[in-house]
Amino acid sequence: MVRIVGLGAYAPEGKLSNSDFEKFMDTDDGWITSRSGIKFRHISSPDEVTSDLAVKASEKALRRAGVSPEDLDMVIVATSSPDTLTPSTACITAAKLGAGKVPCFDISAACPGFLYALEVASGLIGTGRYRYVLVVGVESGTKFIDWYDRGTAVLFGDGAGAAVLTEGDGEYGILATYLQGDGRLGNLLKIEVGVAYPPGSWGVRMKGREVFRNAVLQMGEAALEALRRAGMRAEDIDWLVPHQANLRIIEATRQRLGLPPEKVYVNIGEYGNTSAASIPLALDEMIERGLLKRGDNVLAVSFGAGFTWASALIRWG
Ligand code: UT7
Repeated sequence: MVRIVGLGAYAPEGKLSNSDFEKFMDTDDGWITSRSGIKFRHISSPDEVTSDLAVKASEKALRRAGVSPEDLDMVIVATSSPDTLTPSTACITAAKLGAGKVPCFDISAACPGFLYALEVASGLIGTGRYRYVLVVGVESGTKFIDWYDRGTAVLFGDGAGAAVLTEGDGEYGILATYLQGDGRLGNLLKIEVGVAYPPGSWGVRMKGREVFRNAVLQMGEAALEALRRAGMRAEDIDWLVPHQANLRIIEATRQRLGLPPEKVYVNIGEYGNTSAASIPLALDEMIERGLLKRGDNVLAVSFGAGFTWASALIRWG
C-alpha cells in the first residue's frame, strides 16, 4: 500500500481579515463569518509566486520524510494558479528544491487537485518504476482575484501543502480513493485566464449558490464512496478532513455521514478557501497539534471547479 512518509505545509505571512475588506468593499465581518466561516486568509506577496510556496511546503515534507530532493523520482504539483503555463510549476519547484533531473508535471483539477495527484502518484508508484514521489497542492489564486467582486474576493486564500509518497509495508497508507468529474457544469466556477480570455479580462467567476448546492451533494457522495471502496462505515473514521470552502458545506457533509463535530477538522477561519492546498494544509496543522495518531483512519474529501470531486481514505502512519 502507498504511504505518506512525510507531509508539510506553508502559508504566506501576509494576511487579510474580514474587517480589512470592510474598508474598501460593501461587506462586513458578520456576513462573511455567517455565510462562509472565514475570518482570515493568507495572501502571497507580489514577489512571491506559487512555486515559492510549493518549495517551502516541500522542504518541510522532505525533512519529515528524511528524503533528500535528489532522491525524488517524480514531482507532481496540483494547482490552478501556476507560475507560468509552461514550464510547469512542478518543474520550477523541482529545480528550486535541487531535485536535479526528475519527471515533473502539473495536474489541473481545482480544489480536489491534491487528491487527484495522490491517485496518480499511487498508480505510478504501483508500477514499481518510481520510489519516492513528491505531491504538492498549492495556490496563489489571490493573484487572479478581482478585489472588488465581493462574491469571490473574500473567499479565497493562498497556501501550499506537500507529501512524500512511497510504497509501504501494507498496514498503513492509502486504503481507497475515488475521483469524479462533470465538465458540463464547468461554467459555474471558473478562473478565466487562458486563450479564451483576452488579457485584462482575467478573474475568478462563480455562481456561488449553484456551486454550493453541488458541493454539498458531491462531497457527501465522495465521502461515502471512499468508505464503500474500503469496506468501512462512517463510525470507523477517526478524522474527516474536508476541503475548506465553506463551513456550511463542511457541516452538511458531517451530517450526511452522521459524524460528531469533534471528528471533523476545520481551519477555514484562518485560511479561507486555498483550493488544492486546503487538505494538506489541514493535515499539517493536525500533525503540528499532535492530533493525528498512527493507525487513525483519515477521510479526506474535496469538491471544486470542473466540476471535480474526490476522496481518499488513509490509514495514517
Ligand atoms: O472551492 C470550490 C467550491 N467553492 C465553493 O464551494 C463555494 C460555494 N459557495 C458558497 O460558499 C456560497 O454560495 C457563498 C459563500 C459564496 C455565498 O453564500 P450564499 O449564502 O450562497 O449567498 P448568495 O451568493 O446567495 O448571496 C446572498 C446575498 C446576495 O445579495 P442579494 O442578491 O440577496 O441582495 C449577495 O449579493 O449576499 C450578497 N453578498 C454579500 N454580502 C456581503 C455576496 N457576497 C457578499 C459579501 N458581503 N462578501
